[in-house]
Amino acid sequence: MAEELKILTGTREEQYRALIPQIKALLEGEPDQIANMANVCAALKAQFEWLWIGFYLVRNEQLVLGPFQGPVACTRIGYGKGVCGTAWARGETVLVPDVEQFPGHIACSSLSRSEIVVPLLRDGRVHGVLDIDSIELDAFNKTDQRYLEEIVGLLTS
Ligand code: SME
Repeated sequence: MAEELKILTGTREEQYRALIPQIKALLEGEPDQIANMANVCAALKAQFEWLWIGFYLVRNEQLVLGPFQGPVACTRIGYGKGVCGTAWARGETVLVPDVEQFPGHIACSSLSRSEIVVPLLRDGRVHGVLDIDSIELDAFNKTDQRYLEEIVGLLTS
């Protein structure tokens, strides 16, 4: 049985540094990707005050909604569409400080103001993305990118 997550204080970086070992422990010994993605969403949601945290998975040339925490969301996103489809097409993280300035942004929630999307890469191919939305403008920076890429790497390793 999973131990309860310790909620951490400190700078954003300190929070990630303390959270990552807990996420590693959660994933250890569990090969099922859906179960692991679900727990990663729950761990991030418990620690950070973000609106929406979830995965979209590549299924038949579309991104299809996977495990998430937050309000109901769009279920399918095309290649190159929105922030998620753009991260898929580029194969790299996309940071959006202001969603209104991102051409083609897909508004699943009108409350979302900024967003980060991190691709899940395996053997150079994107097989899904981690998408996080905030109700605050400019909520994500390079520190988030670095640690979220590390967390996503735990899922694909
Ligand atoms: N905003 C995303 C769509 C997914 S929701 O934010 C959950 C996008 O533009 O791809």
